[in-house]
Amino acid sequence: MNADIAAASRELKGGGVVVLPTETVYGLAANALDEKAVRKIFTIKGRPLNNPLILHVLDSSWLVRYSHGEKYLVRVEKITGAFWPGPITIILPKKAIIPDIVTSGFDTVAIRCPDHPIFREVLRASDLPLAAPSANPFGYVSPTCIGQVKATLGDRVKIMLDGGECTVGLESTILDITSTVPKILRPGAITADAISKVLGEDVIDYDVQIVSENPNAPGQLKQHYCTDTRLLLFEYGNRDLLQYFAGKTAVVFMQRPENFDGIAKNLQLPTEAISWFSDDGNLNGVAKNLFSTLQRLDSAHYDTILCERPRRTGIGIAIDDRLSRAAAKFRQ
Ligand code: TXA
Ligand code: MG
Repeated sequence: MNADIAAASRELKGGGVVVLPTETVYGLAANALDEKAVRKIFTIKGRPLNNPLILHVLDSSWLVRYSHGEKYLVRVEKITGAFWPGPITIILPKKAIIPDIVTSGFDTVAIRCPDHPIFREVLRASDLPLAAPSANPFGYVSPTCIGQVKATLGDRVKIMLDGGECTVGLESTILDITSTVPKILRPGAITADAISKVLGEDVIDYDVQIVSENPNAPGQLKQHYCTDTRLLLFEYGNRDLLQYFAGKTAVVFMQRPENFDGIAKNLQLPTEAISWFSDDGNLNGVAKNLFSTLQRLDSAHYDTILCERPRRTGIGIAIDDRLSRAAAKFRQ
């Protein structure tokens, strides 16, 4: 076994926390069965205890250890068969073995099977279910490379495994399969349409307009993923807002604008103040670069970041969700 995997596994078994890569974002992991270890995650992140964690498992055979899925077996088999390992988390009734701190006292547990070789090897080596939120201080932009984790969590965690850039770049889709009609609680790379096709039934999609502040609705915090720099959004393709800003402003488009030199000149901005998430505007590419671009601009000392919204189709719904929440604190 690779020495890093062995060290991480030992740390987890001993009640420590480690940073691990997943295909979505980097996670801050602890043994989910160890209350004290899980408490460390909340302390390191500064995360309120009423925001439950996701349990990470090696494969669907682990589900019976931690959840009561009997009533939802058909749905569970369809979802895990089609998408696991991969960026979708399912909500199921929890078993008593899962400490309340993981689920914030809810009687359901969120479970996901990550698709990153390093995370999977640590799961295999430790044989433990791992509770892991994104490895960022609570409320801040999620990390998609190890450099971002180091920049924000610094020396608070001893073992951090580098797994390169996350390929998806957005947190997993969260699907509640216990409701009468399955419901998306957090949009992600796996869309309601794709899920509905696999299940052969309707799925209630996530509506970005309904971001409630109800603490009983986990995962629905109105403000999240926030930059420190003021972040303002403009509609896709509508550049009217830009004329009101100059000086220490950064502008970020979904795709490389054709005449970005001209745009920079018009707005009286240096060309380096203009960025884009993806050269061709492909939304998977945008998702992959979203958080790293926001973090880069956030640490570049601009007064304002003006950011274009994506088209709201496919993964664009999840991208728009993250951007809307990131900008929420600057809208008041
Ligand atoms: O892609 C991901 O899911 C990443 C990687 C690290 O796996 N993890 C992640 O965790 O995004 P976190 O803690 O940042 O987000 C977990 C979300 C929270 O919004 C939480 O409210 C929701 O999952 N959640 C957890 N348990 C839940 C439950 N029983 N019912 C509803 N939502 C739940
Ligand atoms: Mg998070």
